[in-house]
Amino acid sequence: MLDARYSTRTHVAGALGAADVGSTVTLAGWVHARRDHGGLVFIDLRDRSGLVQCVFDPETAGVAFVVAERVRPEWVVTVSGRVRRRPEGTVNPGMPTGGIEVVVHEATVLNEAVTPPFEIEPGIQTDETTRMRYRYVDIRRPEVLAALTLRDRVTQRFRKSLEHRGFLEVETPILTKSTPEGARDFLVPSRMNPGEFYALPQSPQLFKQMLMVAGVERYYQMARCFRDEDLRADRQPEFTQVDIEMSFITQEHILEMMEEVMHEVMAETGHELRLPLARMTWADAMDRFGSDRPDTRLGMELVDLSAVFAASGFQVFSGALGSGGVVKGLLAKGAGDWPRSRMDALNQLALDSGAKGLAWVAFTSGGEVKGPVAKFFSEAENAGLREALGVEAGDLVCMVADARAVANEVLGTLRLRLADELAVPREGFAMLWVVDFPLFKWDKDDTSWTASHHPFTRPFDEHLASLESDPGSALSYSYDLVMNGLEIGGGTLRIHDPKLQLRVLEILGISGDDARSQFGFLLDALAHGAPPHGGIALGLDRLIMVLAGASSIRDVIAFPKTSSGACPLTGAPEAVSARQLRELRISVD
Ligand code: AMO
Ligand code: AMP
Repeated sequence: MLDARYSTRTHVAGALGAADVGSTVTLAGWVHARRDHGGLVFIDLRDRSGLVQCVFDPETAGVAFVVAERVRPEWVVTVSGRVRRRPEGTVNPGMPTGGIEVVVHEATVLNEAVTPPFEIEPGIQTDETTRMRYRYVDIRRPEVLAALTLRDRVTQRFRKSLEHRGFLEVETPILTKSTPEGARDFLVPSRMNPGEFYALPQSPQLFKQMLMVAGVERYYQMARCFRDEDLRADRQPEFTQVDIEMSFITQEHILEMMEEVMHEVMAETGHELRLPLARMTWADAMDRFGSDRPDTRLGMELVDLSAVFAASGFQVFSGALGSGGVVKGLLAKGAGDWPRSRMDALNQLALDSGAKGLAWVAFTSGGEVKGPVAKFFSEAENAGLREALGVEAGDLVCMVADARAVANEVLGTLRLRLADELAVPREGFAMLWVVDFPLFKWDKDDTSWTASHHPFTRPFDEHLASLESDPGSALSYSYDLVMNGLEIGGGTLRIHDPKLQLRVLEILGISGDDARSQFGFLLDALAHGAPPHGGIALGLDRLIMVLAGASSIRDVIAFPKTSSGACPLTGAPEAVSARQLRELRISVD
């Protein structure tokens, strides 16, 4: 809370109220609005705490009245005056200070301001680049300031909650060596070591593990992370993690601790989080929602219809089932009368997501059963569909026949699109754990195994024996925290045995000298008495985005980057001088 200490003010604007009536106050801030009522001049004075109405009466304000006549929006002023109750009929119940006003007898202009590029009001239509170019003006707007305030509250709560639980905040380097979190590195050339580069950390992963070897036992950090990847509404090239690591723990300890901390963080923002959180295995999440970060508020689960179509005469279905695939479907309530053009768009989305096609059947409100594949379905199959999905007149059924993983993924994408188009309510917060991720995933392009979390993740004990013979079946001690369909955190138990770490690296195609040169320092550390350990990192920006109800992560970052990674305010990134490049021995075409 802003207060008047350590400042030239006696009070802050937004906190004035009935209790101050009769007091003489000195305020300082920005001219939010100025109204000339032919005689009286009113100025709404704004500071971080809020607004208050100041009245300038030519009879009593003296030279202050000249100031009132001169000022313009966003000028910086200080005023002194007496607080009084607003006269009958002029009370503004929509304003926290709407019952009072300050009758000014002294005013000084501290600084002038050019006309602001947009209004300091909520919900303006100004394009985002302009807002980012003048972010210092944008932050004056209530919703932006509220997001930053929320971010501060949440950050402080994390710090307190973790400190109460014996965590030590430790900073780790920004100029470092590459950490494989799946994105490209940002590189920084070293002048003192020409031709060599630091990488900015994608996360402090290996440092926090080494802190466990070091005996720190419980570590946390508000860690800046840097990832050069394509940006989206929930991704920035630099972002903040609440990064956590613990020793001598099982997965249960980490989840339990994290749930308690999240409960406190949610309580801080006025929400009651019911514990324990729901848990879903990765396999279930994919099967039921076609996503490893399901938004469970939407319902609309995927249903396996293979049994309904076991004897199907539709060759697409029988073919898929015959080759070990599935027929899965999804009910879109109320979409049964959509025009063909909308169905074509859905079909295209299915194709773009990797399906060979989309089989849809519309049960129109007029009682017809329509769609290009409807003619292939028997009465019994239609009845089976109705039963399996709870179809009613006016509903649409979308089906995909393919390998299970493909059908899940395609329907997972359709599900989100349909929920948007049908405006399915997304109310409240749905937080859950998705657990038991596969250790590896197959990269079709590289024809190699890659780590689904990162290469330091511990496989299930019972899958150790078959790691090399059947990497695809190995599961890992891993957990993602999902909120409203966003991955807001993720973590794993780690490998603490250097021999096992080498085996996993080998499966990932990193062996011998490569393993030593990339991860030698980690392998050395693990050989120096590494305790069993594990941790998690929460995406702070994403969490605030969900809590603030923002649609873009940029709304909750003070100085964000555009989707092309640029900063419209400073102009970064930019070309540098030939001299700087020479010093770094870098040539640019
Ligand atoms: P992971 O890569 O899953 O795990 O990252 C953890 C969380 O960070 C957030 N996040 C991002 N937020 C904004 N912009 C981005 N570009 C971005 N990338 C990730 C997400 C994500 O859940 N070292 C491991 C954690 C661990 O194993 O302890 C790690 O970084 O919310
Ligand atoms: P076809 O017989 O290939 O013309 O396909 C007939 C209908 O089935 C078209 O509407 C396709 O979009 C749809 N379709 C094709 N392949 C699949 C599939 N694998 N799963 C679901 N529908 C499909």
